[in-house]
Amino acid sequence: MVKSGVLTNYRDFLPLTTATPLISLGEGDTPLVRCPGLEQETGCGELYFKLEGCNPTGSFKDRGMVVAIAKAMEAGSKVVICASTGNTSASSAAYAAHCGLTAVIMVPKGNIAPGKLAQAIASGAKIVALEGNFDQTLSLVRSLAEKHPVTLVNSVNPNRIEGQKTAAFEVVDALGDAPDYLFIPVGNAGNITAYWKGFKEYQQVGRAGGRPRMMGFQAEGAAPIVHGHTVEEPKTIASAIRIGNPASWQKAVMARDESGGMIGMVSDDEIVAARRLMATKGGIFGELASSVSLAGLIKLSRQGMDFSAKRVVCVVTGTGLKDSDLVLKNSEPFLELPADLAAVEKSLGWD
Ligand code: F0G
Repeated sequence: MVKSGVLTNYRDFLPLTTATPLISLGEGDTPLVRCPGLEQETGCGELYFKLEGCNPTGSFKDRGMVVAIAKAMEAGSKVVICASTGNTSASSAAYAAHCGLTAVIMVPKGNIAPGKLAQAIASGAKIVALEGNFDQTLSLVRSLAEKHPVTLVNSVNPNRIEGQKTAAFEVVDALGDAPDYLFIPVGNAGNITAYWKGFKEYQQVGRAGGRPRMMGFQAEGAAPIVHGHTVEEPKTIASAIRIGNPASWQKAVMARDESGGMIGMVSDDEIVAARRLMATKGGIFGELASSVSLAGLIKLSRQGMDFSAKRVVCVVTGTGLKDSDLVLKNSEPFLELPADLAAVEKSLGWD
């Protein structure tokens, strides 16, 4: 079956017109997977993972990008531009290539995972590495987009949020109702904004009975919303969320407050441990930033929060293949042997 994609699946909920091209790279319709091994670990009644790494470019960005690019085409735009910690650029490069547009990508130099950079290079995007952090890069890109006839496809473009909210629809469609809690990493804060919009809209049209508490988590060294002030030099191993002045800050705070949720923070060690646990106990390999969801859940459950009668969803925002270099760098050495049966049996203790 040919996958129809986000624009076709949720057209009634999206700002489409008869002139919007129904493009798709097969985004959306990602798995929601229950993990009994991790339910035990966290004391959850039911624990599910939304595998957004299964999108065509390996992250949730494709849901919003397909809408942003389709609307850019509808408006006659030929060039799209974004600032990115990596995934937005990989996605915009791929969708621009698919649609015959030019993608201009600005990334903070030396601050993005090699897998993401490779994706943008492979798709033929125009790449500029800026000496500065993500916040400075985004600010420069916004100025460029105001001055020149290009479409900005960062999540400050409302079409991005519209597309990304479809993930919330899918969670409700899969479970039959909204979960009790949704754990999600927060960087530029577009995704938590989008999920909350989606949950609210689905409830308004009667497709969901309730709404989840939104549990956003930032990395300790890049936690402006938790601290209530911008972070000039954000630091975390999770480069995707190394952001000190999120564009959708106020909307994230609104999602937190309206839902009765929270925005907390986890340390780099907790993020790395959660990534390992998700892979070793759940078979789910997420990129570092995406493991923040589980890291937040583990932190709260260790603090004594009771999830035993709750249905919990953790959003895994990107695939672990994006920054697999970090896994390899920190791994234990593994066996290297000659192709000899006896030698292999001996080293495995099977002789
Ligand atoms: N997880 C991953 C894998 C991301 O790439 C991002 C953001 C987030 C979480 C946070 O989402 O920004 O909507 O709060 N990546 C952006 C980028 C900033 O440029 O790719 P957010």
